[in-house]
Parts: sequence; C-alpha cells; structure tokens
Amino acid sequence: MVNEINNNLLKYYIETWGCQMNEEDSEKLSGMLKRIGYTRTEDKNEAGIILFNTCCVRENAENKVFGNLGQLKKLKEKNPDLIIGICGCMMQQEGMADKILKQFPYVNIIFGTHNAYKFPEYLNRVKTEGVQIKEIFNKEEEIVEGLPIDRQSDVKAFVTIMYGCNNFCTYCIVPFVRGRERSRKPEDIINEIKDLVSKGYKEVTLLGQNVNSYGKGLENEVSFAELLRMINEIDGLERVRFMTSHPKDLNEDVIKAIKECGKLCEQIHLPVQSGSDRILKKMNRHYTREYYMSLVNKIKQEIPDVSITTDIIVGFPGETEEDFLDTLNLVKEVQYDSAFTFIYSRRNNTPADMMLNQVSEEDKHDRFNRLVEAVNNSVISKNKAYDGKVVEVLVEGTSKNDETKLSGRTRNGRLVNFSAEGVNIGDIVNVKITKAQNFSLVGEAIK
Ligand code: SAH
Ligand code: SF4
Ligand code: F3S
Repeated sequence: MVNEINNNLLKYYIETWGCQMNEEDSEKLSGMLKRIGYTRTEDKNEAGIILFNTCCVRENAENKVFGNLGQLKKLKEKNPDLIIGICGCMMQQEGMADKILKQFPYVNIIFGTHNAYKFPEYLNRVKTEGVQIKEIFNKEEEIVEGLPIDRQSDVKAFVTIMYGCNNFCTYCIVPFVRGRERSRKPEDIINEIKDLVSKGYKEVTLLGQNVNSYGKGLENEVSFAELLRMINEIDGLERVRFMTSHPKDLNEDVIKAIKECGKLCEQIHLPVQSGSDRILKKMNRHYTREYYMSLVNKIKQEIPDVSITTDIIVGFPGETEEDFLDTLNLVKEVQYDSAFTFIYSRRNNTPADMMLNQVSEEDKHDRFNRLVEAVNNSVISKNKAYDGKVVEVLVEGTSKNDETKLSGRTRNGRLVNFSAEGVNIGDIVNVKITKAQNFSLVGEAIK
C-alpha cells in the first residue's frame, strides 16, 4: 500500500482551460515536472500532483474550474499527500486566490501567469516544509527563456512570440491577467524553431494575443512581417501559422509575406467581434465594418484559397436587434471558413461590465442561435466546395473515430481524414477528397 502511494506521488495530472497560450504554458509546466522526475498521467485518481491551469475570459470558463475543484475534495480525503495546484489567468484576478482558498482550503499551491516558471520551487517547498503557497505577481517580469517543454504533438508545435496585450477591448479581461505586450527576441524564436525542426517537427503556430504588433519595444525592432520572412528561411520547416491578428494591425506587409513565402499557410484568424460600427466603437476595437470588409477583400484577392476565420460576440451591452443584424449580414458577406461564437459575459472591472444597458439573457441566446446558424451555413458551403479536389495534407496522426485512417490538415487549416498506404506521421501527402462533410473532409491519398 505504501509503495502504491509513493508511486502515485511521482505522477502528475494537468488540466488546461482557455486558449493556446494556456496550452503552451501547460506544456512548459509539464516539461518542468518531467525534468524533476515526474511522469504524466491522464487519470486524476492515480496522480500525486493535480494542477489546474485556468482561464477567466468568460464566466463559464471559471465555473468549470470551481466545479472541478469541488470534486477534488474526495481525492484529497483518500490521499492526504495529494498536492493540488491552481494557476493561470483566473488567479491573476484581484481577490480570486483568497476566494479559492476559503472555499477549497485543501489547495496547496496557487500562482499566476507571471511566475509559472517558479512552480518546481513552490512544489519543493510544499513537500519539504509542508507550507501552503500563494504567490501572484501583479506585474509582468522579463521573459524567462529556456524552460523545458513537453509538447502534445511530435509534428506541430506552438511557439509563443509575444506575451500580454495592450488593446483593452472593453469586454476583455486578458490585458488585466496577462499584463502588457512584450515580444521575445527574434533570435530566441528562431533558435526554438530550429531546435523543433531538428527534432522532426514540420509545423509551427506562432502565438500572441495580437501577433501583428510583434517587435515593438525590442532593442532592435523587427516587424511581424520581417519575423515571418526570417522563419520562412528555416530549412526543414514546412508550415507556419499564426494567431491572433487584430484587424487594426494586420498590414499589407504581412499579406505580402504570406503571398510570397512558401511556408506561410493560407489561413488568417481575424476576429471581427461585431459587424456594427456603433458596437465596434463601444468595444474599443479601432476599426469600422467598412475597414474590416476592405481588409477581408484584399486578403481574398491577394491570397488564393485563403481561409478566414473569426471570433464573434453577441449581446455586448447596448447591442440592438439592428446591430445584431449588421453582424449577421457581415457573416453572410465574408463567408467565414470557421468561427468561434460567444455570448457576451460580464467580467469584473472591465469597462463593458459597468455599461448600463446590458442585454437580456433571452435576447443573447436568441441572437446566439441565429448567429450559429449563419456561421454553420457559411462553414458548410465552404467545406462542400472541396468535394473532388486534391489538397496537400500534413499527416498528424490516426483519425479519432477510425483507427484505420490517418488525419491531418490542409494548408488552410481544414481537417482531413483519409486512407493511405506507406505514409508516415509527419509526411506531407496529396489527398483527393471523396466526401466533403459539413465540418471535415474525407479522402484518399494519391501517389
Ligand atoms: N487576443 C485575441 C483573443 C482573445 S480571447 C483577440 O483579440 O482576438 C478570445 C475571444 O474571446 C475574443 O476574441 C472574444 O471574441 C472572446 N471574448 C473575450 N472576452 C469576452 C467576454 N467578456 N465575453 C464573451 N466573449 C469574450
Ligand atoms: Fe482581449 Fe482585445 Fe487584447 Fe484580444 S486584443 S486579448 S480581445 S483586449
Ligand atoms: Fe483565457 Fe487567459 Fe487565454 S483568460 S483565453 S487562458 S489568455
């Protein structure tokens, strides 16, 4: 019995909520734990450490964390040596750590987004001194380079190029929990990607809340377009994606780089948030619908077969039926390849939370349903157009629902499940689409 528990102490379980930034942070937390001798488990019951990396962008993201923390009580009772840690964006909110400790006193470690690199130290103190740790830095520090990282895939990797956000969209909590914009040095980014390529990686996705403002404040300023061109030169790398692009900052240089550089994939995530000028202004987005549409049209014109994806919020304070119809029409006009749709969620201390004319839950849900229908119509019709076409696919693994098939993505980001012989994970193959389904493609590899 004793042995069993000791073994469990060497296993950790990490659960991650939120965006790719958080996923990448979790890969680093996992990398640090592996370096000090722990192994990962996907089963909470056999873990000696359970770590929750949290998100607070919407209320339902937070509710999930609370629900999951409640469930840990039983595990802790069964195994008092279990170490429970909570970190991530949610912890950066004023008062949240104390609220959690009050409600869930069995939590051992709490830290925020700016001090994740200190996790092994905290763990050591909990184990050797038996203390409870709550440490959250209010301000961003220098970027810590060289942390170990345990990546989810052997083919494609996230590479964060900048941290934080300066935009303060009025609905959004991210700038408060992730701090101000700061960019990694280009040489650190290039070295990381070269190292990935030497390990067999074929694709990178560059991450930042607003990648188009990359490079500002660096000793030697480098623009995002320049960085893209430098990355395009890396031998052995096949594909480069990036997200997110703020429409106000995506410029012609970047469009030109995608057009001219073979490794840059034809996919742009361009969150519009709303199709109404009145609401865009209240959101502090710094562009108009007309500007957004002209950008979309330019991208479509310059980059053949490009896919454009987006984020949209319904029910922002003061949004009228007319404003919403502007959004609906914009969705029909752009014909998105995919879109994340959200119901506006009030976030403490954001300007929109203090706006008086909040939209009723009923109207929000009604608009959300209509929006999802319009988005789906557009996504499905874009997908159907691939019937019979030949596409280039990077093989990422076996298909989720059918192990006899392989799975991967087209350059512009479409999921393809296909049959093939003599093809390995990491290969790039041409696939003929035999069936275009609503949200994915089915095909056969061609020699
Ligand atoms: N930096 C990125 C992504 C930020 S969070 C960007 O600017 O696009 C991802 C998405 O969550 C946002 O694009 C927005 O659509 C949505 N979001 C952010 N705050 C929200 C809130 N309070 N309620 C509902 N959706 C929100
Ligand atoms: Fe939030 Fe706006 Fe920054 Fe995106 S750009 S993270 S939506 S404040
Ligand atoms: Fe959530 Fe933080 Fe990302 S709030 S969306 S995990 S930056």
